[in-house]
Amino acid sequence: MASVPSLASTLQQQLADALTAALPDAGTADPLLRRSDRADFQANGILALAKKLKGNPRELASQVTAALPAGDLIKDIEVSGPGFLNVTLTDRAIITTLAARAADGDRLGVPPKAAPGTTVIDYAQPNVAKEMHVGHLRSAVIGDAMVQILEFTGENVVRRHHIGDWGTQFGMLIQYLFEHPDELRHGGDQADGEAAMSSLNRVYKASRVLFDSDEEFKARSRDRVVALQAGDPETLAHWQRFVDESKIYFYSVFDKLDMEIDDPDIVGESGYNDMLEETCRILEETGVAVRSEGALCVFFDDVKGPDGNPVPLIVKKTNGGYGYAATDLSAIRDRVRNLKADTLLYVVDARQSLHFKMVFETARRAGWLNDDVKAHQLAFGTVLGKDGKPFKTREGTTVRLEDLLDEAVERATAVVREKAEKVGLSEEEIVENGRYVGVGAVKYADLSTSAVRDYKFDLDQMVSLNGDTSVYLQYAYARIRSILRKAGDAKPAAHPELDLAPAERALGLHLDQFGAVLEEVAEGYEPHKLAAYLYQLASHLTTFYDQCQVLSDENPAEVVENRLFLVELTARTLHQGMKLLGIRTPERL
Ligand code: ARG
Repeated sequence: MASVPSLASTLQQQLADALTAALPDAGTADPLLRRSDRADFQANGILALAKKLKGNPRELASQVTAALPAGDLIKDIEVSGPGFLNVTLTDRAIITTLAARAADGDRLGVPPKAAPGTTVIDYAQPNVAKEMHVGHLRSAVIGDAMVQILEFTGENVVRRHHIGDWGTQFGMLIQYLFEHPDELRHGGDQADGEAAMSSLNRVYKASRVLFDSDEEFKARSRDRVVALQAGDPETLAHWQRFVDESKIYFYSVFDKLDMEIDDPDIVGESGYNDMLEETCRILEETGVAVRSEGALCVFFDDVKGPDGNPVPLIVKKTNGGYGYAATDLSAIRDRVRNLKADTLLYVVDARQSLHFKMVFETARRAGWLNDDVKAHQLAFGTVLGKDGKPFKTREGTTVRLEDLLDEAVERATAVVREKAEKVGLSEEEIVENGRYVGVGAVKYADLSTSAVRDYKFDLDQMVSLNGDTSVYLQYAYARIRSILRKAGDAKPAAHPELDLAPAERALGLHLDQFGAVLEEVAEGYEPHKLAAYLYQLASHLTTFYDQCQVLSDENPAEVVENRLFLVELTARTLHQGMKLLGIRTPERL
């Protein structure tokens, strides 16, 4: 995030600026600061600079130290090792910097990007007439967090839910509905997603049985595909019923996930139907795609099958049908040309990585992607059961997403209920908090491991009060809110003149890094780094409580106010950080 207003400069940035100005090569050399255990920061850049200037690093380090102007920022600086600088900041600098953040509302001193771009993010893409599975959960949770994080940095974000709503399988479904018009529940209760899914399931199974056993039905189904592709109105009307019914179900799951999905952002595979022919024509005319055994294909030097033969991306099949690749290529054209994207982000299972590699390379050859317009797959790993195998029920069937979320909420509610009496929660609050804790636990478990890794779905661990869980963070937040309520007339106020205890300094220095962490998270599409930051923040808070009393009669009023100031800023940082991950922070827990 370039062009940072002074208010938002982190302590690290202020120190880097001061050191850079004192270096002989001012303005060009980087002091290479990092947090350190020995002091607040260590500068390693002197070594490289001394090498460049052919000087002695320790001598150079001493010169830099001497050249630093006296001021409020640095308390102590010493040369160590071969020529490192260990720097301790003043307590005043820490509190003054944090006070500026605290005065900056929800943004907490994090400046929006100077030159935001447009990112189209493809996430939460279930398939019509099919049950959602844990993979769809991951895409939704990770994608939603990335949307919030990117928007917070100032990026212009366009959401696209590329649902699977097109393809030959609809021939069978639609034909069945033509022949059994009353089988699909319709016009029912909009809120009843489970009923919608079970009626879709019924139709799916019944039509499959017919399709596999009745040659004539099979033939009629094939004709139905042709009618669908030709845009026959009656066929489309039946197709629409499947889409509408599925959306009732999708929305019920997204609702359970406490996630906002807007209808205009659902642009499924069918939305690109009118572009497919043109996409293929352009690819063929430009020579990017070639005819091979009747199909229109794109070849790659580095994509080969086990037999050593090249495996092409098939954009048009031998029978003239278009597949997944043609749709994705058309979607790229639409997103670049019409939505004016300069970044395309795909939150999709790592098992589709080869597909996207080939699609992106094809789009580059066609000129749709280039140095100014980039595509990236935020690939995620498989969800495993406690046993380390792909997540299944005890009976070996796939786990229904609703059941899983319901169970998480149920367990979380039990955890909340245990403490409810002490906190004085009403039944209504127990239910609401149980939902926020349960859904938060599922989201956090997903977001706190690096996306590309497989992760174990373990509800016991997820709702545990100890360790790296959302519940731990939610309790940290609620505890601060409780202290602030108990503080009575004492109000949070920054007192830069006070000396800080070690735990206060550690908490303060960590708080100051929020913006820098967000920048890294947004740039690398790594929400787990935000989760890790928040977990460390809560851990610093725990140490702080151990070592520093907030509301103690023995504390002078300024110390109480300054500590209230620190914990309040911690609460706001936790709240904002969790919100960016899609997780609620109840006031009382
Ligand atoms: N519907 C697909 C599935 O369930 C995911 C779609 C991913 N997005 C895309 N543009 N291909 O696997």
